[in-house]
Amino acid sequence: MKGIILAGGEGTRLRPLTLVTNKHLLPVYDKPMIIHPLETLKSLGIKDICIVTGGEYMADFMRFLGSGKNFGVNFTYKIQDGPLGIAHALLQAEDFAKGEKKIAVILGDNIFEKIELENDFDENDNNAIIFLKEVEHPERFGVAVFDSNGKLIEIEEKPKVPKSKFAVTGFYIYPTDVFDFIKTLKPSARGELEITDVNNWYLKQGRLKYIVVKGFWSDAGTFPTLLRANLLVGIKRLIEGKMEQWLFS
Ligand code: TTP
Repeated sequence: MKGIILAGGEGTRLRPLTLVTNKHLLPVYDKPMIIHPLETLKSLGIKDICIVTGGEYMADFMRFLGSGKNFGVNFTYKIQDGPLGIAHALLQAEDFAKGEKKIAVILGDNIFEKIELENDFDENDNNAIIFLKEVEHPERFGVAVFDSNGKLIEIEEKPKVPKSKFAVTGFYIYPTDVFDFIKTLKPSARGELEITDVNNWYLKQGRLKYIVVKGFWSDAGTFPTLLRANLLVGIKRLIEGKMEQWLFS
C-alpha cells in the first residue's frame, strides 16, 4: 500500500509562526512536524509516499526531505493550488495512486503514538477505514454518531452538540475509487471539499469500517494542541530513555 501525507492548508490558527514557514515544517519536539506522520506511515511498512502541499513552501519540503533516501522511503511531490480542503488535497495524489487497490492517507499535523490495523485488514476488499479516538472536546472534529446498537450511522462535521465523544482522526484508508467520488463533490459553505462527505459516502454504502486508536493522538494545528503534541512526543522520548541525559546531567 502507498501512503499520502496532506500538508497543504494555510495554518491560519498558528499565525504568526505560519507566516515564517509551512505549519508542517514547524518543530514538534525533536523533529519537523511532518516527520511524525511520516514515521506513522513507515511503521505500517509503507515506503512509497506522496507529499501534497501548496506551491509556496514546496521547495522547503523538497530541500529537507529530498528523494526520501535518507528516510528509507521514496517521495513523490504534488502541489495543491490553494487551500481548498482535505478532500481536494487528496485528489492531487490521484496519479500517484494509479494501479493501487487502497491508499493510506494521513494529515501532516496529526501526531499518533501508533496506528494498528486489524488482523483481518484486507487490501483487496472495497472498504474504507476511519480511525476514531475518544476525546473530551470532539466538537472541533468530525464526530461519529452511533445508533442504540452501537452501529456507526453518521459522521457529523464539527457539531455544536456532539452525539458521541469519538472524533474522526486524520488517518484514513481508502479504496482508490475515492478519487472519482471526490470529483463529484461540491465545496461546502466554507469553500472546501470536505473529507467528512467522503466518509459519509462510504458509510451510506455500508463500506466504512472504523478502528479505535490506542495510544495518544493529537493534532498540532492550534497553539494549545501544538504544545500538547510537543509534550506527548517529549514524554515518549523520556520514557524511551532518550531524554535522560539532558534532564539529569
Ligand atoms: P486544517 O487544520 O483544517 O486547516 P489548515 O491547516 O489550513 O489550518 P487553519 O484552519 O488553522 O487555517 O487542516 C488539517 C490538515 O489538513 C493540515 O495539516 C493539512 C491538510 N490540509 C490540506 O492538505 N489542504 C487543505 O486545503 C486543508 C484545508 C488542509
